[in-house]
Formats: sequence, C-alpha cells, structure tokens
Amino acid sequence: MKIAVSGKGGVGKTLIAGILARLFAKDGFKVLAIDNDSAMNLSYTLGINQDVKEKIVPISEMKEMIKERTSVPGGVSGVYNINPKVSDIPDRFKVNGPDGLELLVLGSIEEPATGCLCPENALIRTLLYNLFVKRDEVVIVDFEAGLEHLGRGTAKGIDVMLVMSEPSQKSLDLCSKIIVLSKKLGIINIFLVANKVLDQSQLDIINKRVQKWEIPLYHSIPFDSDIGKADLNGISPLEFNPNSKAIDSIKILYKKLKDLKKDLFDL
Ligand SMILES: Nc1ncnc2c1ncn2[C@@H]1O[C@H](COP(=O)(O)OP(=O)(O)OP(=O)(O)O)[C@@H](O)[C@H]1O
Ligand SMILES: [Mg+2]
Repeated sequence: MKIAVSGKGGVGKTLIAGILARLFAKDGFKVLAIDNDSAMNLSYTLGINQDVKEKIVPISEMKEMIKERTSVPGGVSGVYNINPKVSDIPDRFKVNGPDGLELLVLGSIEEPATGCLCPENALIRTLLYNLFVKRDEVVIVDFEAGLEHLGRGTAKGIDVMLVMSEPSQKSLDLCSKIIVLSKKLGIINIFLVANKVLDQSQLDIINKRVQKWEIPLYHSIPFDSDIGKADLNGISPLEFNPNSKAIDSIKILYKKLKDLKKDLFDL
C-alpha cells in the first residue's frame, strides 16, 4: 500500500507519516518511509539513530549521480533525459530505522512558481513514480506542503492520500484544493484528517466547513502537549510516550488503514 501525506505547513504531516510508518513496521509489515520535504525531519519522528542520521545525504543533493543519470549521449547542454534509470536508487540509499523500517530521504527542489524542469526534478519525479508503482512494501511519503510537484504520472500508484488539516480555515482551504487535485490525478482513497483538535467545538466547526465536500472527515487527532515535548527533546513521540493522546489516536487511524489495506490487497 502506498500512502501519501499532504497538507499545509505545520499541520502534522511528518508526525502522521512517521508514526504510521512505525506502527506498520511494529506490526511486521515491510515499510519504506520517504522524506520528500526540504526540511527533512522525518528521521526525528521515526527515531532514526543519530549516527545514521548524520550520514544521510538527500537524493536531491547528489549532484554527480543526478548528472550521470539524466545526461544524454553526446552531452548536449540544456538537454537531458527526463526518464532516467532510478530503480536501483531506493535500495542503494535507504537507511535502517527502528522496528525494521527503512527510510529514503529524497529532499526536495526549490521550485519557481512555474515548476522547474531541471534534471533534479526529473530524477525525483521518476523516483516517486518508481516508489509508488514498482515497490511492493508499505510506502509512506511525507510530502512537502502543496502538491505542485505531483503530476498525473507521478501520482499513479498512490493508494491513499491523507489530507491533513489543523483547526483553521486556512489549512482547510488548502485541503479543499488538494482534494480536487488528488481526484484529478485519479487517486481513489482521499481521506481528510484533522490534527491538533482541542475540543468538540473545534471539531464542530471543521465538520460544518466540510459538510458540503464530497469527502467527510475521516479521522481526528487531539492536540497533545507530549508531541511538542518529544520534539523539544529530539526523540520520536512514540518513545517519549507510546500512549499519549495523539499517539493513541494515530493507532486508531493506523487500524483503519490496515483494514483498508486488507480490503484492497488481500483477496
Ligand atoms: N497532535 C498534536 N498535538 C500537539 N502538537 C502537535 C500535534 N501534531 C503536531 N504537533 C506539532 O506541530 C508542529 C508541526 O508538526 P509536523 O512537523 O508534524 O508538521 P508538518 O506538517 O510536517 O510541518 P512542515 O510543513 O513544516 O513539514 C510540531 O512542532 C509538532 O510537535
Ligand atoms: Mg514535515
């Protein structure tokens, strides 16, 4: 199953991607977590060892490899291969994490508004396509805010798009855009998840906003001060308090996704 996590900056994408990856792995699934955010902080949430973390070089910064893979015979300047060979990259550059999970750090490319047709992007896009379509493990991608980097080709193979929001109209605005785009891209399972919810009155306001949407609220995760404390201490929230309010709620989300996986794949 291929799960992508999207939403506005700071809504909790990395938290959800990281904890879901850990929960799938703890349950015995083969898991590949993908960090596709320029901040590259998924490794904290996953609880990757410091010495492993220090050695990680994001794929987007492997200039030589990108050049080698995207260059065309004859080396004509400004012309490059938009469909480079990438199938060996995940296994070459992934690192080991807790519970047997693996992490691949893609990083991301600073793009001008019009989108960048540069070799780095060609490689990252082809790699995302490869991860979504060709891998057979549970793949969980922590996306950068916004979905501009996803094209019809790259999104192919995403089984579940988790669209995250906090209790704010601004983050819901972006969710509505992401939902429309995800549908256009042909993604079937688009699930809206609210995070950092303080109380029922916030939930009521969110539900009121989304009631006309085709996609209802799938899950809601409470605000939990232990998540911030774990961040401050630089450790995975799962180690900091495996039974905190938010973690318990993500476990319920995990259970729903595991059941969905069974429906989708275990015939
Ligand atoms: N349920 C929660 N309760 C309290 N704090 C939370 C919760 N979820 C996330 N946070 C805090 O919100 C901040 C943002 O979380 P996170 O990094 O997961 O979001 P993000 O969407 O990945 O952000 P970015 O767009 O910067 O990558 C962090 O400081 C995290 O500790
Ligand atoms: Mg993040």
